Amino acid sequence: MFCDLQGSTALSQQLDPEVLRDVIRSYQEVCAGAVARFEGHIAKYLCDGLLIYFGYPQAHEDDPQRSIRTGLAILEDMLVLNTRLRRDNDLELTVRIGVHTGLVVAGEMGGGVTLESLAIVGETPNIAARLEGAAEPNTVVISDVTAKLVQGLFLCNSMGIHELKGISQPMELFRVIEESSAQTRFDVAASTQLTPLVGRDQEVGLVMDRWEQVEEGQGQVVLVSGEAGIGKSRLLQGIYDGLESRPHWLVVNRCSPYHQNSPLFPIIESLEHWLGFRKGASSGERLQLLERRLEDYSFQITESVPLFAGLLSVPLVDRYPQLNLSPQRQRQRTIELLVQLLEETVSQQPVLAVYEDLHWADPTTLEFLGLLVDQVATSKVMAIFTFRPEFTPPWGSRGHFTQITLNRLPQRLATDMMARLTGGKELPEEVVTQIAAKSDGVPLFVEELTQMVIESGLLYEVDGQYELSSPLTALAILQPFKTRLQPGWTGWGK
Ligand SMILES: Nc1ncnc2c1ncn2[C@@H]1O[C@H](COP(=O)(O)OP(=O)(O)O)[C@@H](O)[C@H]1O
Ligand SMILES: [Mg+2]
Repeated sequence: MFCDLQGSTALSQQLDPEVLRDVIRSYQEVCAGAVARFEGHIAKYLCDGLLIYFGYPQAHEDDPQRSIRTGLAILEDMLVLNTRLRRDNDLELTVRIGVHTGLVVAGEMGGGVTLESLAIVGETPNIAARLEGAAEPNTVVISDVTAKLVQGLFLCNSMGIHELKGISQPMELFRVIEESSAQTRFDVAASTQLTPLVGRDQEVGLVMDRWEQVEEGQGQVVLVSGEAGIGKSRLLQGIYDGLESRPHWLVVNRCSPYHQNSPLFPIIESLEHWLGFRKGASSGERLQLLERRLEDYSFQITESVPLFAGLLSVPLVDRYPQLNLSPQRQRQRTIELLVQLLEETVSQQPVLAVYEDLHWADPTTLEFLGLLVDQVATSKVMAIFTFRPEFTPPWGSRGHFTQITLNRLPQRLATDMMARLTGGKELPEEVVTQIAAKSDGVPLFVEELTQMVIESGLLYEVDGQYELSSPLTALAILQPFKTRLQPGWTGWGK
């Protein structure tokens, strides 16, 4: 990512050097804050330009997403900074941001006092800088490569094909408008078409069994653990389908890797959804929606409205008395009310409360769930928790807990998945064997590798099946491990 101030030369003529330094420093602080939040790395301050890495030195599964979220966060935080600068210095800063994804060589560069231990070499940073140059004021521009990696997660407008100075291939550029409503890759997949569920009959069956107990008033907690991409979200979808004809109320709470320090984030999000808060709704509207919803519950309104309003950051009006609770007590009461909210909803119909990706949960959410697991035992609630193996549920084991561990798919089922992904068109046997081996039975990798093979140009279609267009001798399908596949990888058939 490249981030730069526009018109800084003019600025340096207009301002006293010391004032200029302070202004630039505030801008750099804004950038540094956003970069830190999304765990990128500022590699270089080039006066008012910043070169930022995502994926190195710290890699995440979603680095392209993180870079764009960082860009949008910088633009948003600059609005606040500009309000101050307008007031104090009678000026406004304009930033432009470019993001590109690609391979680089990383390692030490230079020597002596100018030794850089985390330097990178390659075309990627140059392209990012060119994209920044092509950006309109206060926008984030991304390359087609990056755009493909975040497809569906952001609303982007094409800026057409551009020739970039010093870059041989013309490239389609995109301006990022905003985050889309899809939060994860799974949402994006689900919004078009999910691969039909293969296997997992036992797991779905077990949950359906437990649901019968829930209907009889014996609440259940189901803990689903499995590595990234193994199919936790897909299993949930299978469970929702299984419950379709049974009356229930579904509430989905999802932890986010970007909000691990934001107390009760997953609960707040799902409450906002339940209350029908729209983006851009006024605080008056929000308060009204909250009041109307809470009327259906036995809460004491003078307590519950201020507490929920506090949780949802809705400003209160004078009608409500001050609560005079210590912050700790306030948190405690809020958590109790949240549990009560679920409990009372149960009197209408059984509740399926899902808490996804607990490895990203904040401590307050875990505290809330600790209270919930106790309450669940005697009510018509099923709580399903999903998490990766690195998370250990802090609640021990109880009689009403069921543990499900999702394992990798056996080759037979991985092959099934491939057949569904190609719409029934048969893949050459060598390809099937390769994909099965390289994906190691992780469904996410089965999907990605199959997709990659179909798009690679290595196959052609004849009589409703795929044939290899050249022998598959030195075929090396990239071992994906836990990282995303590298864009632009051309190892096929070479
Ligand atoms: N049993 C399965 N059958 C078909 N597709 C699956 C299966 N398990 C996972 N998938 C697909 O693989 C991808 C990764 O699964 P996902 O549920 O998102 O993993 P997780 O939530 O564990 O990270 C998704 O696109 C999903 O649709
Ligand atoms: Mg998931």
